[in-house]
Amino acid sequence: MSFSSQVFPVFWYEDHVRLINQNQLPTVYEIVEISRCDDMALAIKTMIVRGAPAIGVAAAYGMYLGAREIESDDREQFLNQLSEVAQKLRETRPTAVNLFWAIERMMKTARQTMGPVDHIKQVLLKTAQAINAEDLDTCQAIGNHGLQALPTSPEKLTLLTHCNAGALATAGYGTSLGVVRSAWQAGRLERLYADETRPRLQGAKLTAWECVQEGIPVTLITDSMAAHCMKQGRIDAVVVGADRIAANGDTANKIGTYSLALVAHAHAVPFYVAAPLSTIDFSLSDGSQIPIEERDPVEIYQIGQTRICPPGAEFYNPAFDVTPADLITGIITEHGTMKPSELIQLRMKQVV
Ligand code: MRU
Repeated sequence: MSFSSQVFPVFWYEDHVRLINQNQLPTVYEIVEISRCDDMALAIKTMIVRGAPAIGVAAAYGMYLGAREIESDDREQFLNQLSEVAQKLRETRPTAVNLFWAIERMMKTARQTMGPVDHIKQVLLKTAQAINAEDLDTCQAIGNHGLQALPTSPEKLTLLTHCNAGALATAGYGTSLGVVRSAWQAGRLERLYADETRPRLQGAKLTAWECVQEGIPVTLITDSMAAHCMKQGRIDAVVVGADRIAANGDTANKIGTYSLALVAHAHAVPFYVAAPLSTIDFSLSDGSQIPIEERDPVEIYQIGQTRICPPGAEFYNPAFDVTPADLITGIITEHGTMKPSELIQLRMKQVV
């Protein structure tokens, strides 16, 4: 089944990249034109583009833009300078492993491509475009598998999600919101509850915007209302995205996901993680090894231009948390849905 979202946050246009400025939504729909690697690195860092798979696609294009700026025709010099480009892009955000996965794929492509430097550059552009296109197919597959994994009763489900793991966070369909889209398309969705997602409000600003664009019924709640809604029996299942999944299934996602998983467990509500295989980091045995990004405290103490707390208070602003595998009912990937403990079989079968 195929159902496009019509929202493409990262795409190649003529000779540069176009990004939807996610810091301006939902009030302003602005396209940012990116022609230089430095500008792409800044766009990732400042969250003009955000969401693990979208960051991966953006970084892949960033690698090409950086390659294009290298003047040397000497292969070794080119590869050395490209390694510096890769390092610059790696330093933008630490948690989403898709960033590192895409950069590594681009570096490997450069190393394995023979012929003149100009040819390597062209192959790098094609590879970035392939990563972009593959992510759309991957998300469609996640949506279809997710639809099969959802509870069979009631016929029309009310789902809850956190943050934005939608079209805006991927190449254009979404992971958890891809599952929601597929359920909506199949007539199995009654409504989506969206957590507002403090402090940056991706749920309020982005998930609600995507749903409204497509006529998907959406009810926005503050993060602290999820337990109450579950106790009232309003929620049939929770579906969230992921930034990095360790080999044992422990999952890093937007701050607040862990508490959502705990309350889902307390109310026997199934809790699903939807993510591409590129989000699984088999080099980490468990979630304690996942680097957690800490962001500027201004995200906590200021709303718009208004400071909301007294001077003298201190702040702690982790952007992600880790949900232990035993709180996760299933991980929905493009290869199907599995229990966290079954992930390792993908490695053994060399699927990833
Ligand atoms: O800080 P963000 O907005 O990049 O965080 C995004 C999330 O946590 C998403 O849930 C995750 O990246 C999955 S996106 C398909």
